[in-house]
Amino acid sequence: MKNLISIKDLSIEEIEKIFSLAKQIKKKPHKFSRYLQGKSFALIFHKPSLRTRVSFETGIFQLGAKAVYLEEEIGVPVRRSLGEGWTEREAVKDIARVLSSYVEGVVIRTFSHQLLLDFAEYSTVPVINALTDLLHPCQVLSDLFTIKERKGDLKKVKIAYVGDGNNVCYSLIYGCNKTKADLNIATPLGYEPKMKIPALPAGRKNQKSPPKAGPPSAEKIRIMNNPIEAVKDADIIYTDVWTSMGKEEEKEERKKIFQNFQVNKKLVSYAKADCLIMHCLPAHRGEEITDEVIDGKNSIVFEQAENRLHLQKAILILLDIL
Ligand code: CP
Ligand code: NVA
Repeated sequence: MKNLISIKDLSIEEIEKIFSLAKQIKKKPHKFSRYLQGKSFALIFHKPSLRTRVSFETGIFQLGAKAVYLEEEIGVPVRRSLGEGWTEREAVKDIARVLSSYVEGVVIRTFSHQLLLDFAEYSTVPVINALTDLLHPCQVLSDLFTIKERKGDLKKVKIAYVGDGNNVCYSLIYGCNKTKADLNIATPLGYEPKMKIPALPAGRKNQKSPPKAGPPSAEKIRIMNNPIEAVKDADIIYTDVWTSMGKEEEKEERKKIFQNFQVNKKLVSYAKADCLIMHCLPAHRGEEITDEVIDGKNSIVFEQAENRLHLQKAILILLDIL
């Protein structure tokens, strides 16, 4: 693996290798304490982060390497006046070239997915996507690992994603397409994932249009606008914030539009009795999820957050050796 930009770019064998190594790391973390000794990784974050930043920084440290966190140091991206590909200080491609001569990998959280792609084009060391407006692959790989730990064979698991068709949702589509997990997505009308989804044949974007025959994998991914229908028989209900970072000006409008998509006790009652609850966090309690559900006995959100650490350590090791 050169980069980890999207789950779409990974083979199922690579995903299984990541899961298997993450399992070993979780069991015996000290065994891996020198795997990346003497190496350095740059972390560039243009958006806030608790889980991703801390799990990468500590994960890198636990593998014997050093993390260098960069924020204002390289300047924030300037998107409108100069076009994408620039920060206030210099061209992204120059930053990529320079950093490549100092560190063994770069972890980036930014707004524009294109900026990440531009960086990766000029970087000669692996680039890891720590979230863009489009995708959140480390999150979803870790979540599928968590689901596998809890439920076993992903091919037999039914996941219902309820909420916004956002970056987490897109990565879930790619992750479920690769692992053949069943995925129902319920969003308000107009908030469905809009990017052309290679996993889905044309005409399957909304259940209102009659399904056309497509590749078998895509048969397991459905997009609809009814949350009750989506969670029926689900093994997992997954939700995320209604307003992602960068869309704050839409917050109040979205609160009204999404109100029927709240994961609450009533909605959960339509799923299987042992249905597990997931949320990538941060959660806006009382909006997309109620306290009762997120703190309930079927919630695995903190287990999910912990697994980010183990899974990302596996990614760092595999990027280094594959
Ligand atoms: N889930 C997640 O990526 O959390 P942070 O935004 O806190 O990193
Ligand atoms: N969809 C959320 C995920 C946060 C981890 C966001 O982009 O803000």
